[in-house]
Amino acid sequence: VERARRAHEQLAGVEVIWRQDCYQLPTGRTSFGFKDGIGQPAVEGSGVPGSNPGERPIKAGEFILGYPDETGSTGPMPTPEILGRNGTYLAFRKLHTRVAAYRQYLRAKAASREEEALLGAKMVGRWQSGAPLTLSPGQDDADLGADPGRNNRFGYTDDLRGFKCPAGAHARRANPRDALDHEMSVDVRLHRMLRLGTSYGPMLPEGVFEDDGADRGIIFVFAGAHPKRQFEFVKTQWLNDGIFIGAPAEKDPLAGANDGTGTFTIPQRPIRRRLQSLPPFVITRGGEYFFAPGLRALRWLAEMDIQNG
Ligand code: HEM
Repeated sequence: VERARRAHEQLAGVEVIWRQDCYQLPTGRTSFGFKDGIGQPAVEGSGVPGSNPGERPIKAGEFILGYPDETGSTGPMPTPEILGRNGTYLAFRKLHTRVAAYRQYLRAKAASREEEALLGAKMVGRWQSGAPLTLSPGQDDADLGADPGRNNRFGYTDDLRGFKCPAGAHARRANPRDALDHEMSVDVRLHRMLRLGTSYGPMLPEGVFEDDGADRGIIFVFAGAHPKRQFEFVKTQWLNDGIFIGAPAEKDPLAGANDGTGTFTIPQRPIRRRLQSLPPFVITRGGEYFFAPGLRALRWLAEMDIQNG
C-alpha cells in the first residue's frame, strides 16, 4: 500500500491537503449515546457467521466486485479486470450530530427520565445499550445489548404494526428485515450494506443540555458493490421518505432531513403517540464516493512502470 501511495504521489504530484481524525469508544457508543455497528449482513463465503439467523448470508457480489450478486449478475466494474476485481465502492459522509438539541427535544416531550429513554429508543429501534426494542420493548436490557449472540437475533413479523418497534424507527427503516416480506414488492436483500460508524469531535458530557459549540458527530462509511441501490436508495427512499411504511409525510426521526415541521408516529394502545415539530438532529457536513481496489490491484498499481504508463 505504501509503495502504491508513493507511486501515485510521484505520478500525479498528490499531496495530503486535509485529514479527518475519528475514533471508536470502547463502549461502541456514538454521540447520541447509542451503541452502533451491531446490525451487519452476513456475507456468503466470508467464513464469518451472521448474527441474525433470520437472514440468509448475502451473495458476496453485493459487496465485492467481480462476484455474482443477489440478481445473479456481476455488475459493472473498473477495467482492466485486475483493477476492478475484489474492489468495492465506498461512500463517506461526515455527519454532524446536534446532541444538545436532541437532548432538549426529548426532555421537552417526556414526563420522566424513563420516558426520555423510551422515546429515544423508539426513534432508533434499539435502547442505548444496543438491546433491540423487539426483544425488550419495555425497558433497556444491558446484558442483551452486550450479547452478540442475541442482540441481532430478531425480525419484525410478530410486530408488523410497530407496537414494540415503530416502523419509522431509524434501524427499522434502514433495514426493515422481514417486515416487508408479505408485500412481495421489495427485496430487502438488494438494499443491504456494510457500514462503519466512528465518532469525530468530543462527546457532549452526560447531563449537558446547552450546546457547547463543538463540532461532533459520526464519520459514516458505507461499502458495497451497488452504491445506488444500496446506500442511495436507503437514504432517499427509506430514511427520507415514508411511503414504504404508509406514512408519506414522515422522515427518519433521528437521521432524516427534518426541518422543524416533521412528525414521528409511535404506535401504542389505546391511542398512538405522535411527536411533532422534529428539528434536524443530523447535518451532513460533506462526503465523497470512492473506489477501493483490492490487494492484487494495489500490487498491480504499485508495480506499474510509472515512467512509461
Ligand atoms: C448521524 C447519523 C446516524 C446515526 C446517529 C445512526 C445511528 C444508528 C444506530 C444507533 C443504529 C443501531 C445499531 C445497529 O443496529 O447497528 C443504526 C443502525 C443502522 N443504521 Fe444508522 N445512523 C446514522 C446514519 C445512518 C445512515 C445515513 C444510514 C444509511 C444510509 C444508516 C444505516 C443504518 C443501518 C443499515 C443500520 C442497521 C439496521 C439493522 O440492521 O437493523 N445510518 N444507526
